[in-house]
Amino acid sequence: MGIIEWARSPWGQDVPIHIAWALIYVAAIGGLIFLVVHAIYVRYFAKQEEYSGGASAAAVAHVPDRVARHSLAARMFHWIMAASMFALLITAFLPKVGVQFPWVTYHWIAGAVLTVSIIYHILHATFWMDFWSIWPDKTDMQDASRRLKRFMGQEAPAPRRFGKYPLENKMYHAVIVLTGLAVILTGVFMMFRVRTAFFPRNPYLFGDMTWGLMYVLHGLAGVGLIALVMVHVYFAVRPEKFVITKSMVFGSLPKDYYLEHHDPERWSVETSSSSSRGASA
Ligand code: HEM
Repeated sequence: MGIIEWARSPWGQDVPIHIAWALIYVAAIGGLIFLVVHAIYVRYFAKQEEYSGGASAAAVAHVPDRVARHSLAARMFHWIMAASMFALLITAFLPKVGVQFPWVTYHWIAGAVLTVSIIYHILHATFWMDFWSIWPDKTDMQDASRRLKRFMGQEAPAPRRFGKYPLENKMYHAVIVLTGLAVILTGVFMMFRVRTAFFPRNPYLFGDMTWGLMYVLHGLAGVGLIALVMVHVYFAVRPEKFVITKSMVFGSLPKDYYLEHHDPERWSVETSSSSSRGASA
């Protein structure tokens, strides 16, 4: 089975037209296998996480009972983006697996909502949030190597507590940025192929080969998002992570959880005597 479907253009050239739709099942089954393997690993094999160091008594005393994690603006962005993402996945893939309905209009409308929400998020993160808190730093790399050594049974100090985001979350974010930008950039051009409210249709904007490759990239990133969204939702509902999911609804974390998993030096939160941008943005 190939991953691309081809067609012959009126000029006798073989051009890609889109991905092979069987990839939908590959992504869904791949996502499912990840969830099952991870759940079995956590249930039967994973050891309790140990950290080195800890917050000083003075730092602990200044942490409020509820630690602000996501501002209202950040939470609204997250849920609008999530709703548009589900709408995009449903409208894109249900017709491909046999549930027919006029999906294109709903799809590009959801695509426009996702695009606007992401533009908003980029501006918000750049100018109002701690932009670097979501990208891996030197400490993350050192701790990842410590974790790996300890996992292999070698001697290594325990890793430190996390900043605002653990390395896994940062890596997930980086992957979703790439796939998200791929569907958005290709999707915006693909809107020229259909009738939308934004600009006149112009299917001659690109040649057959360029259009074909664009549809393939859109489809590949799209099926990748099936697995990525499955993994995200799985972690969101895992009992030990549920406190983080609740912070995406209510905005804050309990003090105990913050002190157990986060390092106040790497993620300083708003206290009665100080203020920090990273805490509330
Ligand atoms: C989760 C994100 C997305 C997924 C999974 C997804 C998936 C898909 C799939 C599978 C198709 C069918 C393509 C084909 O027939 O080869 C499609 C078509 C389309 N997508 Fe997306 N897409 C996503 C995001 C977007 C975004 C953000 C936009 C707009 C900004 C967009 C605009 C379009 C348009 C206009 C078409 C119709 C093209 C046509 O029928 O000629 N999509 N999408």
